[in-house]
Amino acid sequence: MSEIGFALQVRNIKKKFSISDINFILNGIDLDIKSGESLAIVGKSGSGKSTLLQICGLLDEATEGSISIDDSLCSDISDDQKTLIRRHKIGFIYQFHHLLSEFNVLENLIIPQLICNIDSKSAESNAIEYLNKFHLKNKKDSYIHNLSGGEKQRIAIIRSIINRPKIIIADEPTGNLDNANAMVAFELLNEVLKYSNAGMIIATHSLEMANLCSKMMVLENGVLK
Ligand SMILES: Nc1ncnc2c1ncn2[C@@H]1O[C@H](COP(=O)(O)OP(=O)(O)O)[C@@H](O)[C@H]1O
Ligand SMILES: [Mg+2]
Repeated sequence: MSEIGFALQVRNIKKKFSISDINFILNGIDLDIKSGESLAIVGKSGSGKSTLLQICGLLDEATEGSISIDDSLCSDISDDQKTLIRRHKIGFIYQFHHLLSEFNVLENLIIPQLICNIDSKSAESNAIEYLNKFHLKNKKDSYIHNLSGGEKQRIAIIRSIINRPKIIIADEPTGNLDNANAMVAFELLNEVLKYSNAGMIIATHSLEMANLCSKMMVLENGVLK
């Protein structure tokens, strides 16, 4: 039996944007997420959720503290190494889909794989497999601008696992959708999570969604409770 590893570990993360700031926006954050586990972070607007997620995703640097992804410490590594970790081990989902509008759905799922040096034939068959698996095969040839908001976000969710990441980082992934579409997207997110066995950290305003995660924490005054 294989041991369950940690998808993400955060130790004593502190963040201020300027040395002249008096208060830390994040003031000693610790968290652990195992493979297959999901952690919801809730908190008021401006409480630092996006800042924390950017740091977890190696897109911003903490003032103090450390991040481990897939049981490897990510301190003191080069920008190139960070880029490789982001490409191969992290799946990002944002409030807005960030799909490539001038390409179709299939291409949007193929391109991230090509960037990870998957050959184009395997990339295409993977993309089709995922579209089949998650019931979006009929959208394969659609251009992004012809999709509804809900469909765009569902494609963005599938894209987030196309390179088999260890951790999914989702920053208010349903924040731009109406309730019904948000629920559909969230159900897909849970399915995708199970399928990929990745861990997930998700910032959300929705308590309904947070309650469906394995754990929930509140970010307030720079600390998690
Ligand atoms: N690049 C930045 N430079 C300076 N301050 C920032 C920057 N990004 C975020 N902040 C500040 O950090 C705080 C937390 O922001 P954010 O992480 O976006 O919160 P949330 O996602 O919970 O709404 C806010 O006060 C915001 O103004
Ligand atoms: Mg935010």
